[in-house]
Amino acid sequence: MENTDFEQFIGSFSFDQRLCVADITGSAAHVKMLVKQKILTSSDGKKIISGLNSILKDISKGWKLPKEEDIHYAVEKELIRRIGAVGGKMHTARSRNDQVATDLRIYLRQETNAILELIRRFQKALLEKAQKNTDVIMPSFTHLQPAQPVLASHYLLAYAFMFQRDRERFIDCKKRINVSPLGSAALAGTSFKIDRRYSAKLLGFENICENSLDGVSDRDFAAEFLFCCSTAAVHLTRFCEEIILWLNPEFAYIKIGDKFTSGSSIMPQKRNPDCAEVIRGKAGRIFGDLFALLTIVKSLPLAYNRDLQEDKPPVFDAVDNIKLCLEVAREMTESLEFIKENALKSARKGFVEATEIADYLARKNVPFRTAHAVVKQIVSYALKNSKTLDELTLEEYKKFSKEIEKDIYKRIDVKNIIAEKTSYGGTSLKSSLKQIEILESLLK
Ligand code: ARG
Repeated sequence: MENTDFEQFIGSFSFDQRLCVADITGSAAHVKMLVKQKILTSSDGKKIISGLNSILKDISKGWKLPKEEDIHYAVEKELIRRIGAVGGKMHTARSRNDQVATDLRIYLRQETNAILELIRRFQKALLEKAQKNTDVIMPSFTHLQPAQPVLASHYLLAYAFMFQRDRERFIDCKKRINVSPLGSAALAGTSFKIDRRYSAKLLGFENICENSLDGVSDRDFAAEFLFCCSTAAVHLTRFCEEIILWLNPEFAYIKIGDKFTSGSSIMPQKRNPDCAEVIRGKAGRIFGDLFALLTIVKSLPLAYNRDLQEDKPPVFDAVDNIKLCLEVAREMTESLEFIKENALKSARKGFVEATEIADYLARKNVPFRTAHAVVKQIVSYALKNSKTLDELTLEEYKKFSKEIEKDIYKRIDVKNIIAEKTSYGGTSLKSSLKQIEILESLLK
């Protein structure tokens, strides 16, 4: 191991360059604060700011900073190369410890906003499909066994509300991201008369960290962000699992765009739901990112320890992957089409009307438990005689309960079953339209 590049091993330049813009933004605000507090002269301040701007301009054109230990040194060294030793004044009353914590918060705040918008767009796709499919009836499941018929919209709306919670979670997390540690310096604060609130305000932070030891060593906001990503990823896997099932020829409720599936190199009939599967798989690495960060921070004594440098790869990995997954999920949803006849046919299978017959008897004063037992017998009779519940004759029904009359057939018609689920949040068209209205206003 004689040739080990220890500088590279200790450094983070190979993975922290995406903090570059945040770093320059943070430095510019720090310098403006130093000038306001008369710690730097305004002419030095101007030189530094224009140097930083020229670096920013070159970077936006694709120019790359020369390699250094980390992005913070790289920017500072480049600044000194461009404007001379005065560039070294930028680091007055600051340390890389508060600098990197500030950069990460600026970066995550921006990415949180980007993710919020991607979730919103995905929710919109779900909502639009829900609006389009208010006439599609399909079975719902518990234990993946047929349960009761519902509108396809009801399913899509369920996911739209689930992702609403994800947005709320990210918005809440942003409150804790958006706090400035800048001016905590190495860990103890500084004897320079700085104005932390001023630099925080310039950077759009809502608040400042109260304690400098905590300020430089806190990564809770990043762990929380990764938890938000993980929960959204869980939700994506649930949705993708439905897509995978519904595409299976045994279900065949839906079609999705060709580009979201692939064929098999050997089995010509195959259309595999690869995109949905990749999203399902990506969740694993996003959870891994959360656990990596929690483990990095675990047992660290205050304040900054170089272990914390390893916070960035999992954060960046989760950002990239959750964004990708949200975009793919949205596009896949936009391409989704229900095969109405198949969904309806399936909704009529599996004795999904059974609960309705029990409710019917309960309305006729039969105790629900008794009704439940009666219907269980009816179902096993139907099963034995290879009949569906709507194929049983009234005489057959009467054998099990005298209370059953001709109107039972109307009761167990799937369309009626759904139309009557008018309780708040239920699957009737009326309550689905109400849910659509609520989501429309949430997604404005
Ligand atoms: N590259 C470091 C990081 O990403 C910057 C902070 C270094 N601070 C220190 N005291 N060595 O965390």
